[in-house]
Amino acid sequence: MSTDVESRSMGEATDIKSGNGWEPRIIAFLCNWCSYAGADLAGVSRTQYPPNVRVVRVPCSGRVNPLYIIKSLQHGADGVLVSGCHPGDCHYISGNQYARRRFTLLKGLLETMGIEPGRVNFSWVSAAEGEKFSRVVAEVVQTVKGLGPARRLVKPSVFEHSQGQSAERSERPAT
Ligand code: FES
Repeated sequence: MSTDVESRSMGEATDIKSGNGWEPRIIAFLCNWCSYAGADLAGVSRTQYPPNVRVVRVPCSGRVNPLYIIKSLQHGADGVLVSGCHPGDCHYISGNQYARRRFTLLKGLLETMGIEPGRVNFSWVSAAEGEKFSRVVAEVVQTVKGLGPARRLVKPSVFEHSQGQSAERSERPAT
């Protein structure tokens, strides 16, 4: 038996198949000291990456509460990226190791709930790795595009809002 939410999301998935211009929304939690600086370097170096990411700067990847990831998926994100300093480089000694362990546990839990593994991603990106940041973002966007819109945890009110936006878009005259 499919719920109202599921059937609405099916409608969105159909939109993708018909090439309705759907683009995934990715929330990226980036550690201030490495990955955020890496993203900045990508920008300064004019390295191209898909504009689908919305960056949330955090002091350390260890600061990312698993609830932030769940809330992101509930409120309309189609995918989440958490990125921090390489092992041994964390400014808070072992925040990234804690983040990695927490993330692995959460990912297992989300998979049990039916969330596809490709929706939540973890990476290490240093301040000198602008190109790697671009590559990681491109890979995440590509993977999530293949999965279609997130539908498992999404709140009905978020669907109504996005449905309203789609309707508005289709009513808007072509320019
Ligand atoms: Fe970057 Fe901890 S300061 S992951």
